[in-house]
Amino acid sequence: PMAPLVDGFGRVHTDLRVSLTDRCNLRCTYCMPAEGMDWLPRAELLTDDEIVRLVRIGTRRLGITEVRLTGGEPLLRRGLTGLVARLSSLDPAPELSLTTNGIGLARSAAALREAGLTRVNVSLDTLRPERYAAITRRDRIGDVLDGLSAARAAGLVPVKVNAVPVRGVNDDEIADLAAFAAEHGYRMRFIESMPLDAQGAWDRDRMVTAAEVLDRLGERFDLVPVGHRGHAPAEEWRIAGTRTVVGVIASVTRPFCGGCDRVRLTADGQLRNCLFATEESDLRALLRRGADDAVLEAAWRTSVAGKGAGHAIDSSGFRRPERPMSAIGG
Ligand code: GTP
Ligand code: 5AD
Ligand code: SF4
Repeated sequence: PMAPLVDGFGRVHTDLRVSLTDRCNLRCTYCMPAEGMDWLPRAELLTDDEIVRLVRIGTRRLGITEVRLTGGEPLLRRGLTGLVARLSSLDPAPELSLTTNGIGLARSAAALREAGLTRVNVSLDTLRPERYAAITRRDRIGDVLDGLSAARAAGLVPVKVNAVPVRGVNDDEIADLAAFAAEHGYRMRFIESMPLDAQGAWDRDRMVTAAEVLDRLGERFDLVPVGHRGHAPAEEWRIAGTRTVVGVIASVTRPFCGGCDRVRLTADGQLRNCLFATEESDLRALLRRGADDAVLEAAWRTSVAGKGAGHAIDSSGFRRPERPMSAIGG
């Protein structure tokens, strides 16, 4: 029997988040500067073969059952559909999902579903075109809305919409976003912004807390709790009288580190035992030195064994990770 991928606190890890690229076609103000970032050179990215090999080790030897593809913007990765097909035909196959800004999703949703992707989470912070252009610095809300419909039509369900409310920017749209999700059959989640932007401009006072989000939602809807969140970061409610689920991801004010079951692989092949880890384990170097599966498995287990208790965003002792979220993976 397979030994679980367990850390020093007894947390068992079954969820792997794989970043496919650090590039993005948006420039969300809470994420990166207008000029973008110094993108990783191609040669530093894991190849499809390398990703498939690591995920296979994950599902065969380490008990990984869920794989989420992220970025940057994962739809920018060339040959994504082929990679999804390879990952979904592993034995055992992971449950495969994708987190995207939705641009280009209208074109690729059906093919991704066909290749074995099960569902998508799509970022959308506002319903107003001018505001979308101001937040993301690109005038592309139409592509995102088309992408959402295409995902639902392709059966990539439940389609979840992620919004990061920022005070004075889009915090007046919280109930509108929930109503939009209800109207279209999506799930809506509101995420507390974290100090993971590349500019280092995060401001605690501009973060909208989950408690505030719930107040805003409560003004327009009756919310019914929907059971336990388990390992998932989102706490969820159903809008009474509907099938619509809305949630909050309270990373800052109600950290969920105690139930964490995730480990991450960056686009350049570094294993991180936490979004906020201060150290990475260089699986790419091992792969390119010809390491066998047992060596890769051992390095992976060592990394997870050294995982810390959790972040301390809301304390003075907080240390930012060396890389911003776009480079680590969302
Ligand atoms: P599902 O519930 O499976 O749909 O996925 P998810 O909500 O975990 O995934 P998604 O990629 O949509 O992530 C949503 C948000 O959750 C991210 O933007 C983060 O803000 C937060 N999040 C995801 N993983 C972590 C993590 O490891 N630590 C913390 N603190 N936040 C995370
Ligand atoms: N804090 C919280 N969430 C963030 N996202 C991007 N940057 C941050 C941040 N600093 C969100 C995106 C997307 C998800 C993957 O992460 O909006 O929905
Ligand atoms: Fe791109 Fe996501 Fe960062 Fe926006 S938040 S710039 S969509 S990586």
